[in-house]
Amino acid sequence: MAEERKLKSVDYGLEKIFAGAQDFLPLLGTDYVELYVGNAKQAAHFYKTAFGFQSYAYKGLETGSRDEVSYVVKQDKICLVLTTPLSSKSPINEHIAKHGDGVKVIALWVDDAKSAWEETTKRGAKSYMEPTVEKDEHGEVVRSGIYTYGETVHIFVERKNYDGVFLPGFVEWKSEYNPDNLGLKYIDHMVGNVGWGEMNDWVKWYEDVMGFENFLSFDDKQIHTEYSALMSKVMSNGNGRIKFPINEPAEGKKKSQIEEYLDFYEGPGCQHIAVATDDIIATVKGMRARGVEFLTTPPDTYYNAAPQRLAEHNHELAEDLATLKSLGIMIDADEEGYLLQIFTRPVEDRPTLFFEIIQRMGARGFGAGNFKALFESIEREQELRGTL
Ligand code: FE2
Repeated sequence: MAEERKLKSVDYGLEKIFAGAQDFLPLLGTDYVELYVGNAKQAAHFYKTAFGFQSYAYKGLETGSRDEVSYVVKQDKICLVLTTPLSSKSPINEHIAKHGDGVKVIALWVDDAKSAWEETTKRGAKSYMEPTVEKDEHGEVVRSGIYTYGETVHIFVERKNYDGVFLPGFVEWKSEYNPDNLGLKYIDHMVGNVGWGEMNDWVKWYEDVMGFENFLSFDDKQIHTEYSALMSKVMSNGNGRIKFPINEPAEGKKKSQIEEYLDFYEGPGCQHIAVATDDIIATVKGMRARGVEFLTTPPDTYYNAAPQRLAEHNHELAEDLATLKSLGIMIDADEEGYLLQIFTRPVEDRPTLFFEIIQRMGARGFGAGNFKALFESIEREQELRGTL
């Protein structure tokens, strides 16, 4: 298995923040991720029960929102907004009819939403939302937005003059049902699937429009199995807090998993949300106990080879290998450390969006050493779906 290829030796540590002059778009982090779903009430229950999110904020008929309802669930720094239209007239219906449940908004936290919109639209972004001030008794929030791949959008959120719950228009969501959180801390990266031959256009878009850099690249010779292949480039913003790998399908003997996604999502969109934990064993045990379905565990040969793969990079596993194996958690190493990761099955009936749970033990890569085992696992499931 080929190694991840480092394109730049820049320090992407979280502590290092580019000076404003170098980064025209300082992004402070991911603000929230909004999913358009068929039934937000039930989706919120799923993310609370299965993933350990907590009730956080709400807007709906009771708060004067006549067209749509949104439940916001939170776990440490991760905010998911689950939105459903309240009538057939809402344009959100078209999104759901076409794509099924999926990510509409990847919101980015900024200091100045007006400037973020001006700088990105000046560089070629298509506007989704002009800078808009929203106010309530807790202050004001400025939001603006641009389109990225497919119908997905980035919304810039400026909240330095706001101390209310989430955003104006929302109230605190108090629930009597509060399952324990499962140790998910922040969004590590979010991956976009784009169409055939479109990856480099989107790499250039993130470079030109957002000032991102290409951090890592994988080609189809590195990411392939006997049957299918894909290509991926990881884009990072200046301070390394935001990482967006972009995938496109590649030719193989059978259908690429990216093509399966594009067929069922009916276009480009967010493929997975990777969420970080400090204790993946406890997190995955909890998620499994609460009914989250994960991809099948790699074979014995994979785990037998794992100590050797770590030793090649002079790392020692702090976790018990047998426990990792029993939970299906995968291990990858690079010169700086290792990482532990596992992937859920799609979280809706269409084989589209899924989640990754990741614990970084020094490694800054994306598990390239696991791609082959991972893709073989996905192919076994594609086979069952008749879409390989
Ligand atoms: Fe990932």
